[in-house]
Formats: sequence, C-alpha cells, structure tokens
Amino acid sequence: MATRTQNRSSNRSSSDSSRSRSGSSDQRSAFSWSEGAGPVIAAALGGAAIGFAANYGRKALMQGMEAATGDWDEILAAEHDMALAIFDKMLATDESQTFKRKMLLMKLIHALDKHAHQEEMVVYPALREANEKADADHLESEHGYIKTFIFELNEMGADASNWLEKVREFRQLVASHAHMEEEQVFPRFKQDMDEEQNAHITSLVNRDGFWMA
Ligand SMILES: [Fe+2]
Ligand SMILES: [Fe+2]
Repeated sequence: MATRTQNRSSNRSSSDSSRSRSGSSDQRSAFSWSEGAGPVIAAALGGAAIGFAANYGRKALMQGMEAATGDWDEILAAEHDMALAIFDKMLATDESQTFKRKMLLMKLIHALDKHAHQEEMVVYPALREANEKADADHLESEHGYIKTFIFELNEMGADASNWLEKVREFRQLVASHAHMEEEQVFPRFKQDMDEEQNAHITSLVNRDGFWMA
C-alpha cells in the first residue's frame, strides 16, 4: 500500500514539474532541496528504519508462533480454525456492539487476507503444477466470493438488521471451503509429495505468511 501511495505522489510531482516547466516559472522547484532539508530527511529515514525494525519484530513474533505449528497443511488448517473462531465471536455480538463488530471484522479480514495470499501464491500454483488445476481454480474462485462477502460487510453498517445473517452465510462458505481443502485437496496433494517437496512448500508458506503478517 505504501508503494502505491509513493507511486501516486511521485506521479503527481512529475506532472507538477511538467506544469512548472511549461509555465517557465521556477524549473528547479519540484526537485531542488532547500538547505535545511537534509537533517529533516535524515530524521525521517531514521524513523522509517525504526518503524521497519519494529514491524519486523512484530512479524517475527506473529509468524514465529504460527511457524511452530508444523507442515504447510497444518499451518493452513490452524489458520482456518482461527478464522472460524473470529466468526463465532462475531456471531455472539448484538447490534449495539458496533465497535466490537468492526474490530472483529478487521481482524477477520487481516487473517483471511494473509491466508489467501499463502494459498494463492504458493499452494494453488503448486497444485496446478501437480496437475490439480481444476481444484486449484475452484478454490481460487471461492476466494473471490470470500472477498465479495468482505466487500458487502464493509459496505453494510455494523448495526444493520441483516448483519448477523450475512456473517452466518459468510462463515458457511469459509467452513465448506476449508473443509474441502483439509479433507480432500490438501491430503491428496501431500500424499504425492516426498519429504523434500513437503518441506519446501512449508518454507514457502511460512515465508509468504511472514511478509503478510
Ligand atoms: Fe483457500
Ligand atoms: Fe485455506
């Protein structure tokens, strides 16, 4: 997201500079640094480095806990359980608890986003390579409908009368999707792997989850 923001601002400054060139006012304005800018920039970069280190530590902590849970399929199954537990907390709220509902929804979105990334960037492509294209495509299309539920819940007020019904339908989709992965697709895929392939997929899932944590 930071990259998109940076891109947007750099696009803007280049168009500003072309405007200033055509107006032939101050050609240096867009890119020249004032003398006092050095320390400010250095301080900003220092702050970014501290922020990065703090974030790295948080990721290591979060992913460290998950990485300890075993093979790739066990990691993903534990994440399914975690997401379903968030759904259960959402279903235990009433319409007066809008803040809690919004917080739980944010937590759910983050968990599902990270999980989908691990599957879409590692497991589903590996499935396609192993001639399981139909299953990979089916599962990935269901991720699209999971995002549709997220979109609908984000658009809907947390006190809407059909909020619980929407969350219940959403939970059903996630539960049946997770069931298909855990009971059919992942065991069949794992059965055909040797130990080295299994360890490789586990390390890729961990690495991808680390950057998304
Ligand atoms: Fe999935
Ligand atoms: Fe999954």
